[in-house]
Amino acid sequence: MKLWGGRFQKNTDKLVDDFNSSISFDSRMYRQDILGSAAHAKMLGKCGIIPAEDSELIQKTLLEILEDIEKGQVEFETDAEDIHMNIEKILISRIGDAGKKLHTGRSRNDQVALDIRMYLKEEILAIRQMLISLEETLLDLAENNLDTILPGYTHLQRAQPISFAHHMMAYFQMVRRDIERLNDCYKRTNIMPLGSGALAGTTYPLDRQMVALELGFDAITENSLDAVSDRDFAIELSSCLSIVMMHLSRFSEELILWSSHEFGFVEMDDAYSTGSSIMPQKKNPDVAELVRGKTGRVYGSLMTLLTIMKSLPLAYNKDMQEDKEAIFDAVDTVKMCLPVFTRMLAAMKLRKQNMYRAAQGGFTNATDIADYLVKKGMPFRSAHEVIGKMVMYCIQNNKAIDELSMDEFKGFSEIIEEDVYREISLEKCVSGRKIPGGPAAESVLRSIQTGRQFLNGLNR
Ligand code: ARG
Repeated sequence: MKLWGGRFQKNTDKLVDDFNSSISFDSRMYRQDILGSAAHAKMLGKCGIIPAEDSELIQKTLLEILEDIEKGQVEFETDAEDIHMNIEKILISRIGDAGKKLHTGRSRNDQVALDIRMYLKEEILAIRQMLISLEETLLDLAENNLDTILPGYTHLQRAQPISFAHHMMAYFQMVRRDIERLNDCYKRTNIMPLGSGALAGTTYPLDRQMVALELGFDAITENSLDAVSDRDFAIELSSCLSIVMMHLSRFSEELILWSSHEFGFVEMDDAYSTGSSIMPQKKNPDVAELVRGKTGRVYGSLMTLLTIMKSLPLAYNKDMQEDKEAIFDAVDTVKMCLPVFTRMLAAMKLRKQNMYRAAQGGFTNATDIADYLVKKGMPFRSAHEVIGKMVMYCIQNNKAIDELSMDEFKGFSEIIEEDVYREISLEKCVSGRKIPGGPAAESVLRSIQTGRQFLNGLNR
């Protein structure tokens, strides 16, 4: 019989059992469910709501069940619907009436809210740790490449020279915001809903603070109706994870481009590439492509969650059982992507000569020559036009700007002198931009230091 079978005269249809059951996907919360129940039982005993012996027997047996599950000795039943009732049923089968007292002052509605929060709290910390590893890899890559020059792009057209360090530190900043967003999401997840009952709290004098403390929560929820109908924290997490994946997908896209023959800026290590079953010459950046592709799944989870929750009347509705597969898949996907992405990055070879050569083409120093004229007294707009003509001349004559002779330079402006060659070198274009946030080695070094301070300041 079902734990809730009292009011029913018939068994549920087999199809309904399967349809209704969530055990196939919520069983992964067995540990959270058991620890939550043990804390609840402890509090019930302490508050004199159930006898102390029963409380102790329940706690002890729950921990035995936990051990048995971890040893693989427990089989869950589809008919018992979900992880909450499966555990309770096993408990009752082991200790009878004492076990039947566990659910006093509790509903599965506040229980499931508790379990998901506990589960996601752990996952947030695990993902945060992976983001920290990615950050450390980015800092190392930056530190080793302060003087590695490559073209920076806008519109995917070569724009101005920057350093590889500067480029890596751009991603560092994105991932830093990802970490900060997760910290923030953690705060709102770290609130304890038990005691909200089905929707209207309970008449039992539960000590909610004690349960919160016992389970490592910062606070208790403020409104019973909200507590059982709130899945904001899951939506918030999947939105944080979507942004993480958006960042990884942009990075992946660049790595894919950079490892093409057309760019040739990087070469993936053999351990992070795959070959083709037909074309013997191929070495494909599959890891980066899969990360880019999996971004779609994570966005999908966010849409799923938002759509499930849309227009739901308060408080709990069974629709909300559909939250789990979506948020679990988002979490699993990100946890799969991050470590492999980080290791691929650390193992990647840089083709510095190709980067440098690319920066030499495409007139990436054109802005700097215009600035050179400005420093000699010409208004910027006029300088822009003069250099525009110079670029056109170079295109027609198949030359780079720094390949022009002094005579050719003079043809565009009398104020250009010998020092122009030094002033428009790629090295100077980069090192001159020592403005805070700029690509000069000294600026990037400063942001590497700030970055390390940020990582050290995180309580891990
Ligand atoms: N398995 C359910 C879920 O995941 C647990 C809560 C069910 N409560 C209820 N009254 N049907 O949402």
